[in-house]
Amino acid sequence: MKASVWESKFSSRTERMTSSAIRELLKVAARPEVISFGGGMPAPELFPREEVSAATERVLKNPELANQALQYGTTEGLPALREWIASFMSKDGLEVNPDNVLITSGSQQALDLLGKIFIDENDYIVVENPTYLGALQAWAPYGAEYATVPMDQDGMITDALPHAFAKNPKFIYALSNFQNPTGVSMSLERRQKLVELSTKYQVPIVEDDPYGALCFEAVPTPSLLAIESQYENELKSEPSNVVYLSTFSKILTPGLRLAWVIAPDKVINKMVQAKQGMDLHTTTFAQCVAYEVARTGFLDGHIQKIIECYRRRRDVMLESLEENMPVNKGITWTNPQGGLFLWITMPEHINTTRLLEESLKDNVAFVPGDSFFPLGGGKNTMRLNFSYMPDAKINEGIGRLSQVVKRML
Ligand SMILES: Cc1ncc(COP(=O)(O)O)c(C=O)c1O
Repeated sequence: MKASVWESKFSSRTERMTSSAIRELLKVAARPEVISFGGGMPAPELFPREEVSAATERVLKNPELANQALQYGTTEGLPALREWIASFMSKDGLEVNPDNVLITSGSQQALDLLGKIFIDENDYIVVENPTYLGALQAWAPYGAEYATVPMDQDGMITDALPHAFAKNPKFIYALSNFQNPTGVSMSLERRQKLVELSTKYQVPIVEDDPYGALCFEAVPTPSLLAIESQYENELKSEPSNVVYLSTFSKILTPGLRLAWVIAPDKVINKMVQAKQGMDLHTTTFAQCVAYEVARTGFLDGHIQKIIECYRRRRDVMLESLEENMPVNKGITWTNPQGGLFLWITMPEHINTTRLLEESLKDNVAFVPGDSFFPLGGGKNTMRLNFSYMPDAKINEGIGRLSQVVKRML
C-alpha cells in the first residue's frame, strides 16, 4: 500500500511503541505443527463451555438481565460482579469494600490506566528484573524509566529497594505470585519487608496477581494487599499503599477480557475518569455472563481442576527437563509452585534468540528471556509455558528442544 498522509501525523508518543516479541512469536507458534511453550495461554480444553453457554442463555432469556447485559453500564463495573469480587478477595484478614473494586477490560487495561494516571515522562518505576513485558509495553508511551531490582528464588531482593528508591520512583511494580516470566513467588518474609519499606519510604506498590489463585501448594502465601491491610505503622498516611490487580483470564477464560483492580477511593476515581475516555466501561455482556457463572460457586471447583491439570503439566515438564537436558553444562531452571511459567537460564554463551531460530526449525517455540529485562541483559534466558500443551506434547517438545540445545553447546 502507498505511504499515506497519516504517517507524518503520528504523535511522538508512538515512537516509543513497539510490538511485543511474544505477540509476533505467537503468529508463528499458531501453526498446528508447532509445539508451543511460547504464549501465556490457558489450556483451552478446560474452558467451561457448557457453564458459559448456560449462563449466557440465562442472561438473554431473562428480560431484566438481558436489558442490563445489552445496555451501556457504569464505568466502575456491574455492581453484582464487584460485590462477588470483593467477597472472593476477602481473606487472610483482608476485607474488601465493593466500592474499591473497578472492573477493567483485562488487567492489561488496568496497567495502561495506571500508566495514564501516574506516569509522567521520565518518571521512574521500580520493577523486578526480569518483569512482565506487557507492563513495559503499556508504560512505554508514557515515557516510563525503570529502576530494576534483582530476583532470586524468593522473588524480588528487597535489600536492593532503598538503592532503587534513590530515583524517586512513582511506585513499585511487584508480581508476588508465580511471576511472569520466571514462575518465582515472593517469600512471606520478602513480602513483609517490601510492605515495610514501601511504608517507610512512601513508595506505593502495584501488585499484579493474575496467577495467585493457581497455587499448587496447600497453603497460599497472603497477598501484599492482605499483608499491607494488617500493617500498622505511624508512617502510614493512606488507607492502602497497595493497588492490586487480578483477572478472570486464568481462572475462567481470557476471551471475556475481564479483570479487576482493588484500590483506595482516590485512585479508583482517577482510574474511572481515565477509563471513561478509553472505553466508557468494560463490556456489560461479558460481566453479566461472568457473574452468572461465578455466583453459583462454580469457580471454586473449576479452579481446583485447573490447578490439578497445570500441576501435572509442570511435573511433566520438570521430569522431561531432568531426563533430556544435558547435565553439568550450567543449565538451570525454576521450580514453580503455581501459575503457568518456568524459566530456564542457559550458560552465558548461549543466545536464546538464536536457540529459538533453531528450535523453530524443529517446530518448538518458547520466548527468549531478554525482552523481559527493561535495561537489557538476559540473552541466555528463556520462558517456557507449561499450561497450554497436553502432557505428551510437553514431553515431545522438551525432548526436541534438548536436542537443539545439545547441538548448540
Ligand atoms: C503479569 C500479568 N499481568 C497482566 C496480564 C494481562 O492479563 P489480562 O488477560 O487480564 O489482560 C498478564 C497476562 O498474561 C500477566 O501475565
